[in-house]
Amino acid sequence: MASAAFFFVGFLVLAGEAIALQRKDDLSEMEMDEDELLGLFEVMSSLIEDPGWARAHPEPCTETPWPGVECEIGEDDPSIFHVTKVHIGPDIITPTCKISANISDALLKLPYLKALSIFNCFVSSPVTLSPTLFGALSSLEHLALVSNPTLSGEIPSSLAEIAGLRVLSLSQNNLQGNIPKELGRLVNLEQLDLSYNNLSGEIPDEIGGMISLTVLDLSWNGLQGQVPPSLGTLQLLQKIDLGSNKLVGSIPPALGKLSRLVLLDLSQNCINGPIPETLSGLQQLQYLIVDHNPINSRIPLFLGTLQNLTSISVSECGLTGPIPNFFSSLNSLTALSLDNNNLSGTVPPSLGSLPNSMLDQLNLSHNQLSGELQFPEEFIERLGERLDVRGNDKLCTSNKLYLNKNISIYLEIPPCLGTKENGGNGTVQEHPDNSSRYHGKISSNAAQWLNPLEVLSFIYYNFAFCWIFIL
Ligand SMILES: *[C@@H]1O[C@H](CO)[C@@H](O)[C@H](O)[C@H]1NC(C)=O
Ligand SMILES: *[C@@H]1O[C@H](CO)[C@@H](O)[C@H](O)[C@H]1NC(C)=O
Ligand SMILES: *[C@@H]1O[C@H](CO)[C@@H](O)[C@H](O)[C@H]1NC(C)=O
Ligand SMILES: *[C@@H]1O[C@H](CO)[C@@H](O)[C@H](O)[C@H]1NC(C)=O
Ligand SMILES: *[C@@H]1O[C@H](CO)[C@@H](O)[C@H](O)[C@H]1NC(C)=O
Ligand SMILES: *[C@@H]1O[C@H](CO)[C@@H](O)[C@H](O)[C@H]1NC(C)=O
Ligand SMILES: *[C@@H]1O[C@H](CO)[C@@H](O)[C@H](O)[C@H]1NC(C)=O
Ligand SMILES: *[C@@H]1O[C@H](CO)[C@@H](O)[C@H](O)[C@H]1NC(C)=O
Repeated sequence: MASAAFFFVGFLVLAGEAIALQRKDDLSEMEMDEDELLGLFEVMSSLIEDPGWARAHPEPCTETPWPGVECEIGEDDPSIFHVTKVHIGPDIITPTCKISANISDALLKLPYLKALSIFNCFVSSPVTLSPTLFGALSSLEHLALVSNPTLSGEIPSSLAEIAGLRVLSLSQNNLQGNIPKELGRLVNLEQLDLSYNNLSGEIPDEIGGMISLTVLDLSWNGLQGQVPPSLGTLQLLQKIDLGSNKLVGSIPPALGKLSRLVLLDLSQNCINGPIPETLSGLQQLQYLIVDHNPINSRIPLFLGTLQNLTSISVSECGLTGPIPNFFSSLNSLTALSLDNNNLSGTVPPSLGSLPNSMLDQLNLSHNQLSGELQFPEEFIERLGERLDVRGNDKLCTSNKLYLNKNISIYLEIPPCLGTKENGGNGTVQEHPDNSSRYHGKISSNAAQWLNPLEVLSFIYYNFAFCWIFIL
């Protein structure tokens, strides 16, 4: 027995040694190309504070890994590791980027690099995107340089050489100049995010060449000209955000062909109406955000056919005419903003009374709505402060208490002269003894909207703002 036990233990020891030997062999075989390793050290030392990074990570793909570096086994030679990802960001606590952080040409020594992402690193000394460097990073699929306030200069057109690029995110930097039309050659690009920069010029029509695009975000720049109709050819698009630019002209009818579009944000531009009827083709649309544009038309009836709409914002669009009844048939609608327009007529009671209504936010403030607001009390209570009907001169509410609250005071609209309960006809009650019809709590925010002249001057300001871009 004893000898059997000894034999068994001895076998384990031997086997263990063999495994250890095997591992050691694997490691010494699975090395990195020396040029590539030195290239990585150079790239890291151009970015981060820690001068000892190379010493602390002599085998970054195996023995001494670092969370921001990923490697893969070579396809042609499985005994060699290659660096495929370099990532610097707030999720990697230490070391931090150095004050003189820069993007090193040594990236060219990483010929297998698929993903480069650098977040919040270039914050003090100016860094630009070198056309020769980026044009040559041919293995890249994912490039994200985000939240770098001192990353400035232009977007190099050489990025178009990176044929396999699938994600290009240069958001929240300080990039200037035009969007290079050459980028239209990136037929594999799925996501393009250039938001929150200082880009100018027109959106190139060539963007219609990015046939794989699903996400397009060019918001918060200074882009001018029209929305290119060529976007209508990008059949895979799910999200278009062109908000907060200086775009003019009308919405291209071709956008109606984007049958997978979920989000369309054109807010805060100078885009004219009417909204083309072809957009009734956007059957997957959930978010329609068009606020702050001189649309100056009626609310288009086709919106009632877009059954997946969950959020509609058309605030401050110069909309006229009545609020159509169809909103209550949009069963997924949770947020509706129609404020700061010139909508008239009564508020359809159905807006607040649908049994399975999802509506959770309704802003009708600052229009020309009139008559008695006939929302059920449960609706008024459920929405609370997310219901805003203020600033409609001829809108009134029943004069009764609900849960010890005076609805008139609560909604900041006057009580009707007479309600159905006491035989009246729902006109606004006059207060000859007091110039202000608004009693009770009025927030200072609300007060600034009470004067119709101020509302008009605000609308006038918005449209004047547009003239600057059109001229
Ligand atoms: C940053 O790197 C680029 C490319 O390697 C180089 O051209 C540029 O001079 C560098 N800038 C600074 C401030 O070191
Ligand atoms: C944006 O770019 C324009 C020139 O196109 C320049 O005048 C302006 O100062 C830039 N703004 C910022 C915040 O850098
Ligand atoms: C709308 O959304 C539902 C799920 O919320 C989905 O099943 C449906 O395909 C979408 N599209 C249309 C046209 O209803
Ligand atoms: C707003 O509508 C009212 C009547 O509903 C009309 O008299 C007025 O001219 C309109 N204002 C604008 C700026 O369209
Ligand atoms: C409604 O819109 C006005 C004006 O844009 C805004 O001040 C107010 O906060 C909004 N109300 C709600 C409940 O969102
Ligand atoms: C509610 O407040 C209004 C003033 O906004 C007042 O005229 C009305 O009598 C009050 N109603 C009730 C039932 O107290
Ligand atoms: C509603 O009633 C008021 C006063 O009771 C009256 O002056 C007004 O003409 C009536 N309006 C209609 C449309 O009947
Ligand atoms: C009018 O209403 C305001 C606000 O409630 C109040 O401060 C003021 O004293 C009233 N004026 C008259 C003449 O009743």
